[in-house]
Amino acid sequence: MTAVADTNQHYDLDPDIFGQFLDPLRKYSAARYDAEHDTLESAQRNKLRFVADRLGLRGGERLLDVGCGWGSLILYMASELGCRTTGISPAPRQHGYIAEQAAARGVAELVETKVGHFERLDLPARGFDAVTLLGSIVHMPDPDEVFRRAKTVLRRGGTLYVSESCFRNTATRTAFDDRDGTGFVREDIFGFGELRPLSELIAAAENAGFSITSVDDLTDDYRRTIADWIANVDAAAARIDAHGPGLAAKLRHYLEIANAGWGYTTKHYALVCRNAR
Ligand SMILES: C[S@@+](CC[C@H](N)C(=O)[O-])C[C@H]1O[C@@H](n2cnc3c(N)ncnc32)[C@H](O)[C@@H]1O
Repeated sequence: MTAVADTNQHYDLDPDIFGQFLDPLRKYSAARYDAEHDTLESAQRNKLRFVADRLGLRGGERLLDVGCGWGSLILYMASELGCRTTGISPAPRQHGYIAEQAAARGVAELVETKVGHFERLDLPARGFDAVTLLGSIVHMPDPDEVFRRAKTVLRRGGTLYVSESCFRNTATRTAFDDRDGTGFVREDIFGFGELRPLSELIAAAENAGFSITSVDDLTDDYRRTIADWIANVDAAAARIDAHGPGLAAKLRHYLEIANAGWGYTTKHYALVCRNAR
């Protein structure tokens, strides 16, 4: 097995920092702007509905969210659809926050989380109807292993949803992988983050035995999401800097790098696969 990166210091920052620039659900991945007047908050809810639609959820399913962040997806699917949810994240601070939110929303019995890496945790074979990874496979060194594990934990006929930022193609990856901006985001912000071309994720899905059912291009949605985050960082810079001098500027720099590349070097895709056999 490839070594798992014990990294992502970014997600161990004080949850209050993320409360300053994310939407109220603290969803830290692309939103979906269906209308011009959508706010960050409404667009993040649109996105969660979009994920539920792509997974074909009707209510009550067993759902595993790999890289659950501050729990936006599991809390939403538990509250809105009565799904029985499990969230995984190696970042300890995220779990206390999710437990508080689940209790406040009256869905504590439908929401459990596990601290650890997906690649290492013991999970029940064929134990889930749906598996999601939103913005988390980028932090995992071996996509083949991730898709193989996802297939193992999904019941036959179950569905996998993966949305991720990708290099536009392999040539772009070769040209940009060792640029200063890429290194700053990978090492100074996260600790480990490996952007890949979509073709690599598709190959990993196929090799694991999945059937691909859809690919959506969400690049423009992520551009607008990050623009909204940057505006929020600017508005809350003093409070963010109270957690560490210069933090707001560092965060802004990372978000600006992420937003500069869309369509040129990077894309954001949602990939849906079915465990058909
Ligand atoms: C960009 S955040 C996305 C969070 C969430 N999916 C969302 O949309 O708000 C990435 C998440 O992946 C988690 N993560 C990183 N490496 C992981 C691993 N090996 N296994 C499971 N989760 C991981 C991080 O702790 C973080 O919660």
